Amino acid sequence: MSTMKRIGILTGGGDAPGLNAVIRAAVKSSWNSGIECLGLEDSFDGLLEPDRSRVLTPRDVTGILRLGGTILGTVNRGDPFHHLVATSEGPLDYSDRVCEMFYKMELDALIVIGGDGTLAIGHKFFERGIPVVGVPKTIDNDIVGTANCFGFDTAVDFATDAIDRLHTTAEAHKRILVVEVMGRYAGWIALYAGIAGGADAILIPEIPFDIGAVAERLRERDKWGAKFSIVVVAEGAFPKGGTLALIEEAHGGFAERLGGVGAKVCEALARETGKETRSVVLGHLQRGGAPTSFDRVLATRFGGKAVELLKRGEFGTMVAYAPPDIVARRLDEVVGKTKTVPMDFDLLLTGKALGITFGD
Ligand code: F6P
Repeated sequence: MSTMKRIGILTGGGDAPGLNAVIRAAVKSSWNSGIECLGLEDSFDGLLEPDRSRVLTPRDVTGILRLGGTILGTVNRGDPFHHLVATSEGPLDYSDRVCEMFYKMELDALIVIGGDGTLAIGHKFFERGIPVVGVPKTIDNDIVGTANCFGFDTAVDFATDAIDRLHTTAEAHKRILVVEVMGRYAGWIALYAGIAGGADAILIPEIPFDIGAVAERLRERDKWGAKFSIVVVAEGAFPKGGTLALIEEAHGGFAERLGGVGAKVCEALARETGKETRSVVLGHLQRGGAPTSFDRVLATRFGGKAVELLKRGEFGTMVAYAPPDIVARRLDEVVGKTKTVPMDFDLLLTGKALGITFGD
């Protein structure tokens, strides 16, 4: 018999399709177990003041399964530990305030839905005595310990559709089309969407690329009669001996912002091949819109499992997908790491066998 009476739920970091599906599943399953669920607004900021949270009932989450974004709001900035924050009671240490408010609001536990940054913060609060269960979220799919994060499938689906559309115009004009997709430090979206969309070159952060090798492969295509090519580039891909394409350096707790590698690759390929070349950045379109059915199901399973773990008192854990099961992983074993594409991954090897260049 669970002693849980009241739990908090929050979403942190960049949004991903499926956040609302997790919230819905957690609210409904906790409600049906007699546990009240308090929705905290804008990640841990929802614990700064009592008016930044609201009780969520099944009525409040009806109809949100298919909605992108998050009904709770989110923030994408760094570690709130050791920061002062303005509160109605004057400037206070952020993390002390969160802990204090957690108890004042009579919460028994927290469900923390987020990417590595948010899960790492959740883990720190767990170390300070707050019972936490994490739910992994990121379209980049780079969280260790889970085969999939929800949001990834939706992003891949969208990027694949975009590549399909670019294929027809690339073929009509006999051009090279370069598509920049998200993926800061891992190339999962580029690899999956590139394979699903039939790309000719896929450039990922795990394999620094040689633009000459990419151009050579595209020239070969021209020779045998394929006068167009599709190049998929992860935003975190970079040339051999070169650096990441940055829009903004990391500052004041905010992570570095990447972008622009697609335009650089486009320019270099135009120079090297003499062909007409265009580039497109898919950007935040990949994070918006309705989740796919796969992501709705995964997010629902994650939300249900998170409540189950809280009821069992399995804190300091993260729900994870270990096909076909949803399991629990220890937070301290997954945070602070990045799940990158392994060099012996079958999809990478199959891509190479098919003649796709990865720029190596
Ligand atoms: O981590 C997910 C992600 O979508 C990255 O691929 C991208 O670099 C980043 O978020 C963008 O974050 P923001 O919305 O804060 O610019």
